[in-house]
Amino acid sequence: MTQQLAGSPFLKPTFPKAPVGGPLRHRRHTLPASEFRNLTPQDAISVFEIEREAFVSVSGECPLTLDEVLNFLAQCPELSLGWFEEGQLVAFIIGSGWDKEKLSQEAMTQHFPHSPTVHMHVLSVHRHCRQQGKGSILLWRYLQYLRCVPGLRRALLICEDFLVPFYLKAGFKERGPSAISVSNMRFQEMEHLLGGQAYARRNSGC
Ligand SMILES: CC(C)(COP(=O)(O)OP(=O)(O)OC[C@H]1O[C@@H](n2cnc3c(N)ncnc32)[C@H](O)[C@@H]1OP(=O)(O)O)[C@@H](O)C(=O)NCCC(=O)NCCS
Repeated sequence: MTQQLAGSPFLKPTFPKAPVGGPLRHRRHTLPASEFRNLTPQDAISVFEIEREAFVSVSGECPLTLDEVLNFLAQCPELSLGWFEEGQLVAFIIGSGWDKEKLSQEAMTQHFPHSPTVHMHVLSVHRHCRQQGKGSILLWRYLQYLRCVPGLRRALLICEDFLVPFYLKAGFKERGPSAISVSNMRFQEMEHLLGGQAYARRNSGC
């Protein structure tokens, strides 16, 4: 997938550093400056650390427990996307398959394979990297990527009112209040249609 996602206009090109000490020295192994890839269960701890910092201090609740992160990354890694800088996870999205029109409480913990809908459980950016455009870029790349996954037609998510403008800017539409509640928190359901974008598909390296 890294190949599919390479070449975003948002990413600065990365150049390997000039070798130090001439050609006889051993080549240094360097981590890619910036890499987008699907997550694996091995990434679960890094995911959960970012998630815990982002949500526990604010609402006391994480969208996904560590076990749920592990489950989704084992069951449907192809519906996740991580952004790594020099090997460190800086932002991620975790999704799972969903097979009904609207999200319900069951969607919070279940993955339905071969479904036309992705439920985006969580988008989170490391606290040191927020307000730099990373959340928007990762979301854009994720939606581009989903367009290339056969059978997928739309992405759904729930968010609190204050994040509705963020998702509207990314092309989501409001679908009204969600039936889901977590610890008395209320959410709006948002939808992004993946189909009908022949131009985006033709030019996205699918
Ligand atoms: C929400 C989040 C993913 C945005 O990522 P980001 O990289 O900081 O966002 P960007 O720099 O791409 O875009 C900034 C925009 O995000 C929106 N935004 C981000 N955090 C916000 C907040 N706490 N309240 C309101 N709007 C917010 C604003 O529209 C902002 O635009 P502005 O700078 O013009 O005001 C990131 O702040 C984050 O990880 N927050 C904690 C976890 C979270 O709430 N995740 C979303 C629900 S799953």
